[in-house]
Amino acid sequence: KKLLVDVDCGVDDAQAIMMALAVPDVEILGVTCVHGNTCVENVCKNVLRVLKFCGRLELQIPVYKGVSKPLLGFVLDAGHFHGEDGLGNAPDPDAPGLDLVQKEGAVSAIIRIINENPGEVSLVATAPLTNLAMAVKLDPTIPQKLKGLYIMGGNVDRGNTTICGEFNFAADPEAAYIVLNEYLCPTYIASWEFTCHSKLPWEFCDDWLAQDTDKARFMKKIFKHSMDSCYSERIEKELVAGQGFISCDSYAMAAAIDDAFILESDYKAVTVELTGTHSRGMMIVDHLEILNKTHKACIMRKVDLEKFKKLLTNSLK
Ligand code: BDR
Ligand code: CA
Repeated sequence: KKLLVDVDCGVDDAQAIMMALAVPDVEILGVTCVHGNTCVENVCKNVLRVLKFCGRLELQIPVYKGVSKPLLGFVLDAGHFHGEDGLGNAPDPDAPGLDLVQKEGAVSAIIRIINENPGEVSLVATAPLTNLAMAVKLDPTIPQKLKGLYIMGGNVDRGNTTICGEFNFAADPEAAYIVLNEYLCPTYIASWEFTCHSKLPWEFCDDWLAQDTDKARFMKKIFKHSMDSCYSERIEKELVAGQGFISCDSYAMAAAIDDAFILESDYKAVTVELTGTHSRGMMIVDHLEILNKTHKACIMRKVDLEKFKKLLTNSLK
């Protein structure tokens, strides 16, 4: 399976990348970076760090720098959750430098890679959708050449960033709008609420991190900040009101890796609210088909959590 991965690397983006790297028949054609959890320079550094840690820098998975701010509006970040550097404020003194980032920009790379592999590439987007929106405006033919588009983002109810906006959509609502309305290819969405309802027990997380491997120790180090400062206080108690470990971006990745991962989904037309005072950035699901859109997306409802656990476990082996 050929994947192109667009990230704002973030701890759960790192988890998703490591998940894909551990699957033998998955080939990552490139990782494109965009603003989001942290600035795009940090995102590039974090991706290089993850690839190096997994011994894949030498195998040349190219990393491309993308857009540094949303199409409109102001830049959001999620340093409170992922750490100011995006990867848990746990620096590595031997981290690879930005000189290893490709000269070609992310938007151009997305267009080129999809055109070079028509019908073969699945695009996994776990970040604000700015790179993807720019790419489709430059080359409107790319959606028809994609095998599938897997998005972590959007919300069907409460969101996690604004009153009813999920981070990746709220961080660039116009880009999310363009992507949901112009990528008329098979589209799979892991919404914020879906991820909350698909959480894993903390006992699994403890065992996952307790594996006696360098990758598990690395994950424990970069994940500590989120677990200490956010999971227990904010998300678990107030927003999700339940116990459990969530790796948002990994659900989109798992769906791209394994065609049988999604067990149930809603097949609906979707768009994004751009003008609401409180609801800008909210994903709108057209249950009544009032928008008359022929293109519909699979909004994940239930996935195979046993498969998810296996993929996560293998990612740290
Ligand atoms: C999404 O926002 C980011 O903080 C995470 O990496 C994930 O992609 C969750 O709303
Ligand atoms: Ca992300």
